[in-house]
Amino acid sequence: PTIRREDYQPFPWTVPEVSLDFDLGLEATRIVSTLKVARNPAAEASPTIRLNGDGLEVVSVAIDGEPSNGWTMDGDDLLLTLPGEAHEIRIVTEIDPSANTQLMGLYASDGMLCTQCEAQGFRRITFFPDRPDVLSTYRVKMHGDAETFPVLLCNGNLESTGKDEDGTHWAEWHDPWPKPSYLFALVAGQLVANTDSFTTMNGREVTLNIYVRDGDLDRTGHAMESLKKSMRWDEETFGREYDLDLFNIVAVSDFNMGAMENKGLNVFNTKYVLADEDTATDGDFDGVEGVIAHEYFHNWSGNRITCRDWFQLSLKEGFTVLRDQLFSQDMGSAPVKRIEDVRVLRGAQFPEDSGPLAHPIRPDSYREISNFYTATVYNKGAEVIRMMRTMCGEERFRKGTDLYFDRHDGEAATCEDFVRAIEEGAGLDLEQFRRWYSQAGTPKITVRLEHAGNTATLHLSQDVPATPGQPEKQPMPIPLKLALFDRESKSHRGEELIVLDSQEASFTFEGFAQPPVLSINRGFSAPVVIERDIAQDDLVFLAAHDDDPFARYEALQDLIVSHLKQSVNGDLADAERDSARTAIAAAIRAVLQDDALDDLMRGELLVLPSETYLAETMAVADPGRIHEERQALRAAIGATLKDDFSALHKRASAVPYSLQPEARGARKVKTQALMFLAAGDPELGRAMAWAQYEAADNMTDRQGALMVLTGVDGIERTNALLDFYNRYKGNALVVDKWFALQAGSMHPNTIEHVKALAEHPDFTMKNPNRVRSLFMAFAYNPHAFHAADGEGYRLVADVILALDPINPQTAARFVPQLGKWRRMEPKRSAMMKEQLERIASAPALSRDTYEQVSRSLG
Ligand code: ARG
Ligand code: ZN
Repeated sequence: PTIRREDYQPFPWTVPEVSLDFDLGLEATRIVSTLKVARNPAAEASPTIRLNGDGLEVVSVAIDGEPSNGWTMDGDDLLLTLPGEAHEIRIVTEIDPSANTQLMGLYASDGMLCTQCEAQGFRRITFFPDRPDVLSTYRVKMHGDAETFPVLLCNGNLESTGKDEDGTHWAEWHDPWPKPSYLFALVAGQLVANTDSFTTMNGREVTLNIYVRDGDLDRTGHAMESLKKSMRWDEETFGREYDLDLFNIVAVSDFNMGAMENKGLNVFNTKYVLADEDTATDGDFDGVEGVIAHEYFHNWSGNRITCRDWFQLSLKEGFTVLRDQLFSQDMGSAPVKRIEDVRVLRGAQFPEDSGPLAHPIRPDSYREISNFYTATVYNKGAEVIRMMRTMCGEERFRKGTDLYFDRHDGEAATCEDFVRAIEEGAGLDLEQFRRWYSQAGTPKITVRLEHAGNTATLHLSQDVPATPGQPEKQPMPIPLKLALFDRESKSHRGEELIVLDSQEASFTFEGFAQPPVLSINRGFSAPVVIERDIAQDDLVFLAAHDDDPFARYEALQDLIVSHLKQSVNGDLADAERDSARTAIAAAIRAVLQDDALDDLMRGELLVLPSETYLAETMAVADPGRIHEERQALRAAIGATLKDDFSALHKRASAVPYSLQPEARGARKVKTQALMFLAAGDPELGRAMAWAQYEAADNMTDRQGALMVLTGVDGIERTNALLDFYNRYKGNALVVDKWFALQAGSMHPNTIEHVKALAEHPDFTMKNPNRVRSLFMAFAYNPHAFHAADGEGYRLVADVILALDPINPQTAARFVPQLGKWRRMEPKRSAMMKEQLERIASAPALSRDTYEQVSRSLG
């Protein structure tokens, strides 16, 4: 059944207090749940209380202390009829965590027990009104075998512990902060902690623990530093202070997502906790810092203020992503972080917005909420709030968020509550802006600059494309930062912010004797596509001189994208193609030679637009042609700039390892140089990559070299892959890299390699990180996935069908790649659709996969 936003009704009962008693076992865990319930005066009265379940069986029910048979099942849910105003319900359930391969609810991972309850996992533990607007305080007693489960963790504060005669022990936890069931967590197992402390702005001493497996402790330092920085930053930037005396993080190796913000007990994928220079790349270090911050920030944007219903998911996720992005900007290079975030948006969210799964950041309906933890809800959601901040400025934005936190603390709120708080607190009219919450699709802005006499006139128009269920769109307010450059002095008079809020508008700028060069959507002030009518020379000018780093990056990207679009379409004569390549190589040489750039930024400028993004810019894409032309361009640039890249590689190789920006930048451009050199001269590239591999004293260099080597045949490839595996076998996160590098490789036989790797003894469908490292890396490797004979599509469909009964949430995440069928050239399109139909016709599909496949077929 489809759940609709407009059907929201408050729950007829409140559940002020929950007490849970867990008798823990890997194969059998018994749960006694005691709920204090009372009629909700804010809801329509009903004598029936619906307690959600998912695959649970009732062991027993008691009401007000009396065993009761007065219950019925409605599907998976338990229904009770309660005569009075307030009652106590006691329910006993028993579950088998070791059989829980979905990894939702209580499950066993690597000999320990842990939970994932967002969004609807709590109902797999016990019957409960499993919805985010039912807030309760929790008291939890955990009993378990002292050897199997020496550490017993839950939300809130540890109140007491004890031992029983039979070798079991127990711990009792109490969380004073009312919370919805999706924030419940428990962990039991053999764990060791990195312990530290943090003193909050008002002097609260908080104990910090990061729990990991014995042996992983020395890889937790970066996570701990990131946590302390996050706590300080949230105080300084948003005035948010931590509210318990204890903050625990646990790393688990089987996890569907990145991490989870359970109150006082964040559970993390090991990938976002463990890092050291030998096993983690610079990108991995950033991932740890960003996700630690994200989950910590949820304590206010998510936990203290939660969501009324799951349609409001972006209320906590969009805002928290923005908060973690701003944090990472402050911790490192702000422009580089901005470019990375835009790249993620364009690579993951734009395709969502232009395909069959398009939905507004606040969706209107769903069948399975897990399918809406999307780049749209998260990343576009963050962009929407960032636009508000851009329009009112940092200071007024802070007044808005202060009002929001103040007004809604302790509540389950809506996106509308957030917008209203920003509107009032910041003094910003957001009437029309609300369309960003209700309309899907990426607006396309057409830009034309006209010059006459002393006046430059900017003509803008917007088109918000039709999306499923939304054929007609209203104009959106689009905040655009812009600057007009004088060609001679290469400077401008200052940045301006204009807001395009109608379908068409013109803006005039006086005092330009010569036609200026327009820099627009600076800093990516709006998440839109800009179609600008601009001369190639002007893009070259901006790529060299724009003082907004994002706009500079963008000019170079535009230059390359427009060239590749033409060459993919076969629109270019040989001479035209050669002159465009020469212009691009010259622009890149200017980047290589610009001493004012730091290497981190230089590295961004050297990233070629991805094949996925290129496909996104075309109405109908031919991935085979895109791959060929992009590789040919890389080879041409590599050959033309061979000496420059060799010199860069040499200079960067001399910088010793550290986590300082200079050294990180050096590592970034080093592998970039290698990629260009290998494309231009495979012989040389192979030799240099092997040398980089052998000389590497850190994972960034080693992985970069191996990435280049996996793309080319030869003994170096074989030797490096063997060496890497032997060096790191037993380290799951690094073995994941080994799988992912091969599955994401440029090698022409990648499909065969992936099929062989699926038979490798280290491969398992039960571990999501491993599944992602092999099959997600493959599905998002355009040249392999889009193999002309359709073998890539068949393989991904096989994966979906095999994984669906084991882990439907992860299986469903593969569907969007096949869902791109409408935007592909006819042959591939038909083959992709055929695979979707094959999946659709399989018996007993999960709700997750069924929803994604049926929406994808449209
Ligand atoms: N709230 C978590 C985060 O973004 C993600 C949890 C997702 N869970 C799920 N079942 N889809 O921080
Ligand atoms: Zn989140």
